[in-house]
Amino acid sequence: MEVERVQSIAYLSKCMDTIPVEFIRAENEQPAITSVHGEVLEVPVVNIGGDGSEDEENVVRLVAEAASKWGLFQVVNHGIPDEVIENLQRVGKEFFELPQEEKEVFAKPLDSKSVEGYGTKLQKEVEGKKGWVDHLFHKIWPPSAINYQFWPKNPPSYREANEEYAEKLRAVADKLFKLLSLGLGLEGHEMKEAVGGDDLIYLLKINYYPPCPRPDLALGVVAHTDMSTLTILVPNEVPGLQVFKDDHWYDVKYIPNALIIHIGDQIEILSNGKYKAVYHRSTVNKETTRMSWPVFLEPSPELEVGPHPKLVGDDNPPKYKTKKYKEYVYCKLNKLPQ
Ligand code: SIN
Ligand code: FE2
Repeated sequence: MEVERVQSIAYLSKCMDTIPVEFIRAENEQPAITSVHGEVLEVPVVNIGGDGSEDEENVVRLVAEAASKWGLFQVVNHGIPDEVIENLQRVGKEFFELPQEEKEVFAKPLDSKSVEGYGTKLQKEVEGKKGWVDHLFHKIWPPSAINYQFWPKNPPSYREANEEYAEKLRAVADKLFKLLSLGLGLEGHEMKEAVGGDDLIYLLKINYYPPCPRPDLALGVVAHTDMSTLTILVPNEVPGLQVFKDDHWYDVKYIPNALIIHIGDQIEILSNGKYKAVYHRSTVNKETTRMSWPVFLEPSPELEVGPHPKLVGDDNPPKYKTKKYKEYVYCKLNKLPQ
């Protein structure tokens, strides 16, 4: 069976002002109706002091507040050189601009249980609707988890750019876990330890949202919370990420070279609800291609995640079940109760 890519549909739709019906969302999801217009949400921006310029106690307070109230924040002064981020973006863009048949070499095999590979979601989504987006998934860390068969060979610098990003990203992830851990009153090392320590899997997704003739009717990625612990996302300059706050959808402001941090379900669970997984979605653009590079920091499938023992007690009972990460994923994907 051949899968139709959104990039090809977008190409054919270029001269039209319509989109195929399966991309037209129900009214309660349509961006034109459900977004707050003319107002860009000022989500917290935290200087995490990659250069040691910030007072750690203050950073802990800001990060904990952002994680509790928003579940999403941007970090600047994170220590990843601009050039490393630009290279990640450049090689990803070059891959998606290759002729279709060259990309198909990296397609997710139809019988594969893993998400890795180039693809288009064959959604069992709300009412069978589709998102205006293609993607590439592959792991970037640890080396023992990497399947290079899903890493593009073209452009030739793809591998180096991704390896460099993964290496720099690890320091940022460690720092965020430490700050979030301290913000819960735990020791700095306890949160990362509880989600698997150095066995955490870094899964990169590249989202490619081609120009869409009807961005008022379509969505890129439909509303969801991430299943991961944290997600660290690099966007391109085309706005499109929206978060749900006080019953409305707001655009998140683009800040050049900032990283966008999402609290995922596993950190909400671990914190026993003190930190909130952010409900978010993405919209698409009429003229320009939007891209984003989220990295999902995932526990290994067999690891049990639940509220941290130090955060529960007689007066603070666990609000979530403890279960293996793979069981959590299975229930969520099949829309079963957790
Ligand atoms: C996602 O949450 O999967 C996409 C977010 C984005 O593209 O900014
Ligand atoms: Fe997401």
